[in-house]
Amino acid sequence: MYLMLIIFLVLLAYFVFFVSQFYNVFFKGYAPFISTDRETIKTILAASSISTPFIVYELGCGRARFLRIAEKIFPGLRLIGVENLASLYYLNWLRLKLSFSKIQLWKKDFLALNLQDADLIYCYLNNDTMKKLGDKFSKECRGGTQIVSRSFPIPQFIPEKVLNVKNKKIYFYKI
Ligand SMILES: C[S@@+](CC[C@H](N)C(=O)[O-])C[C@H]1O[C@@H](n2cnc3c(N)ncnc32)[C@H](O)[C@@H]1O
Repeated sequence: MYLMLIIFLVLLAYFVFFVSQFYNVFFKGYAPFISTDRETIKTILAASSISTPFIVYELGCGRARFLRIAEKIFPGLRLIGVENLASLYYLNWLRLKLSFSKIQLWKKDFLALNLQDADLIYCYLNNDTMKKLGDKFSKECRGGTQIVSRSFPIPQFIPEKVLNVKNKKIYFYKI
């Protein structure tokens, strides 16, 4: 009986995840959930200028892998992950609590967030969203803020450098 209930709950969680993903991608134009691999994240962190105290955002953080690796390499950073997909947010929240992580997780649409305190922002999203974020970064971010985007450039900005990691371009910008 308990086994049946657990199987039902797991299937329900998958169902909710896929339906909300489908809705967000096809009706709201949001980027789908795909994780950045560890090697790419380590390359990005090594190629960024990071010092503490520093405020790092991962916009659309999914499983917050970028922040989890940053937390291990640079203890002392303030790390904020923003994710609006409920199933991913709650799973991730539990995982971070169980591992005593100091990463803050916010369940929000990052387009409705003020990013004025950001020192470094990591994004792996899509072309439309990067265009919207370009306007937002110009208005809100202070001089010196670093922005890193995997695969999708910010059309309004010229990158400081572009790296090729595992056949994907990584764009580095400085406001
Ligand atoms: C391609 S995944 C990247 C996940 C993670 N950043 C990584 O690189 O491993 C994009 C994520 O952004 C989330 N997302 C897309 N648009 C969003 C929005 N406007 N506000 C919050 N999260 C959003 C999606 O739900 C998805 O989890």
